[in-house]
Formats: sequence, structure tokens, C-alpha cells
Amino acid sequence: MTGLASRYFASALIYAVLGMALGVAMGITEDHAQMPTHAHMLVIGWVSFALFGFFYHLFPAAEKGRLATAQFWLAEISLLTMVVGLAQIFAGRADTGTPFAAAASIGLLTSMILFAINAWPIVRRA
Ligand code: HEM
Ligand code: HEM
Repeated sequence: MTGLASRYFASALIYAVLGMALGVAMGITEDHAQMPTHAHMLVIGWVSFALFGFFYHLFPAAEKGRLATAQFWLAEISLLTMVVGLAQIFAGRADTGTPFAAAASIGLLTSMILFAINAWPIVRRA
């Protein structure tokens, strides 16, 4: 793997380890308050980012260009922001965490739209 594919997959591996570590900590402490933080670190960080990585690995032409680069950075920064926001909210600091989670949600949705615009012509090609 090279380029964006490799960067996406590397970040997915980091989220997998950190998200599972949080899951184990939740299990050991019997405190599941951070369940949404854990769930989104894994379903977006591990699963979705690994899918992005595989897509760009399979279709390397798709990662050339500003759209793919913008999509990558927006997704990475937004998820990091979402994890910080969710961790704050479910630690009882909703006032601090909510603006982070709100901005991150819009960022993640926008990055998904950019990905769809980038991937659509490839997916629809005969
Ligand atoms: C070391 C591995 C893992 C541990 C110890 C772990 C632990 C946990 C715990 C303790 C909960 C809270 C359950 C509850 O309060 O009902 C949970 C929920 C959840 N986990 Fe994990 N988890 C692990 C791996 C994963 C992975 C790999 C994924 C996704 C790819 C994942 C996705 C989720 C989701 C989506 C929920 C929320 C489920 C719901 O809505 O009821 N977890 N996990
Ligand atoms: C813009 C991005 C996203 C936003 C704003 C968002 C928001 C939310 C919210 C508000 C909940 C309810 C949490 C609760 O009741 O405590 C939730 C739950 C859940 N979401 Fe997301 N989500 C996003 C992306 C995703 C993606 C991409 C996936 C899967 C690939 C996903 C999977 C889940 C799952 C499995 C749950 C149930 C587990 C839980 O309650 O934490 N979400 N999400």
C-alpha cells in the first residue's frame, strides 16, 4: 500500500487498537459510559477508514487529485475531533464536548459526500 491508501489503513489500525483498548477498559471497570466513543472509534476509525484504504488501494487513480486529499484530511481531523467531543460528553462535560461533536459530525458528513463524488464515476464505470 502507498499514498492515501496506506495512510488510511495505518490510521484504521491505530483506531482499532485504541478503540478495543477502550472497550476492554469499559469491560474491566464495568463502566460503559464511553460506549458511543468506543463504538464510533471502531465503526468509523477502524471499519470505515479501512474501507477507504482498501478503495484507494484498489483504485489508485482515485487518490490522485485535490478532492481525495481534502477528503482524507477532513475525515481524519473530523474523527479526531469527534472522539474528543464524545469522550467529553460521556464523561459528563456535555457543554465542552457538544461543539466538538457537532462540528465533527458536519465534517464527517462532508468528507463522506466528497468521497461519494470522487468514487461515484469509478463505481459506475462499466
Ligand atoms: C477488544 C474488543 C472489544 C471489547 C472488549 C468491546 C467492549 C464493548 C463493551 C463493553 C461495550 C458496551 C456494551 C453495552 O454497554 O451494551 C461495547 C459496545 C459496542 N462495541 Fe465493542 N468491544 C470490542 C470490540 C469492538 C469492535 C471491533 C467493534 C466494531 C468494529 C465494536 C463495536 C461496538 C459497538 C457498535 C457497540 C455499541 C453496541 C450497542 O449499540 O449496543 N466493538 N463494546
Ligand atoms: C457523521 C457521523 C455520525 C454521527 C453524527 C453519528 C451519530 C450517532 C448518534 C447520535 C448515535 C446515538 C448514540 C446514543 O444513543 O448514545 C449513534 C449511534 C450509533 N452509530 Fe453513529 N454517527 C455517525 C456515524 C456512524 C457510522 C459511519 C457508523 C457505522 C459505520 C455508525 C454506527 C453507529 C452505531 C453502531 C451506533 C449504536 C451504538 C451507540 O449507541 O454508540 N455511526 N451515532
